[in-house]
Amino acid sequence: MRLRGRDYLSVDDLTPEEFSGLIGFARELKGRCAAGDRPALLAGKTLAMIFEKPSLRTRVSFEVGMFQMGGMAVYLGPQDIQLGVREAIPDAARNLERMADGIMARTFAHATVTGLAEAAVVPVINGLSDHEHPCQALGDLLTIAERFPRLGEVRLAWVGDGNNVCHSLLLAAAKVGMTVTVATPQGYQPAAAVVARAREIAAATGGSVTLTGDAREAARGADVVYTDVWASMGQEAEREERARIFRPYQVNAGLLEAARPTAVVMHCLPAHRGEEITDDVLDGPRAIVYDQAENRMHAQKALLAMIL
Ligand code: CP
Ligand code: NVA
Repeated sequence: MRLRGRDYLSVDDLTPEEFSGLIGFARELKGRCAAGDRPALLAGKTLAMIFEKPSLRTRVSFEVGMFQMGGMAVYLGPQDIQLGVREAIPDAARNLERMADGIMARTFAHATVTGLAEAAVVPVINGLSDHEHPCQALGDLLTIAERFPRLGEVRLAWVGDGNNVCHSLLLAAAKVGMTVTVATPQGYQPAAAVVARAREIAAATGGSVTLTGDAREAARGADVVYTDVWASMGQEAEREERARIFRPYQVNAGLLEAARPTAVVMHCLPAHRGEEITDDVLDGPRAIVYDQAENRMHAQKALLAMIL
């Protein structure tokens, strides 16, 4: 795979072969890490990390991942750069590229992360924008592959908001040929362009993408039931209204009766317990959410080792 110098702003920046290759490499790195073998693949390299929003998993997984590979990460919080306020986006990129070997950015507008990528000569990684969360999808596909090695046979149900995490997961699932059903309220479907692109990819990989308004229909026969918060970061003012609208889309024990007995439950976290997911499900035996969190690190190590 020739990924050196490439940006990773969308899952669609990788071909199906590249995407699957990264998952395989991530599995190898995870196995070696567990055996105490942490190859210094990025000795002396530095990743600048820009955060316009809070983070637990993204920050820690990138920071620890860089350290494990012999490099380091520099955290720049919302008060540090103030992209577009204290300094124009291209100007920030032209400074960071002089000192860092790569830039990871968690932004509000997707245009901010693409703007950084256009201006910077070093690779730029999307650590979540309003449109996509492609690193989450990498870690999630690693997590699903650990349970269901034949990814093309997996039936995945997305239940809730058709948001950034949903967009990246749809594209990733399409790249490996999964059968996906997305259940959202009317008006909260994933972006039409993302659905169209995922269907185009799926046509070549043997996968499919179906939209419905019925959570039970999506969960029926599913191997994986995935949900995320109903109000994403930046949508806090809509939280009460969304809580009313999304109520029928809660992932609870009743909904899971429709899924396969072997089904697992996924959530990118952070979770709003009692809203999109109940305590008993999140803390129950089907939830693999902490595997997802850990796998962010292994998947991103594979990505960083290939592109930086
Ligand atoms: N899943 C995820 O990206 O978590 P953080 O927002 O804590 O980084
Ligand atoms: N959809 C959520 C994901 C958080 C990791 C958000 O954007 O806030």
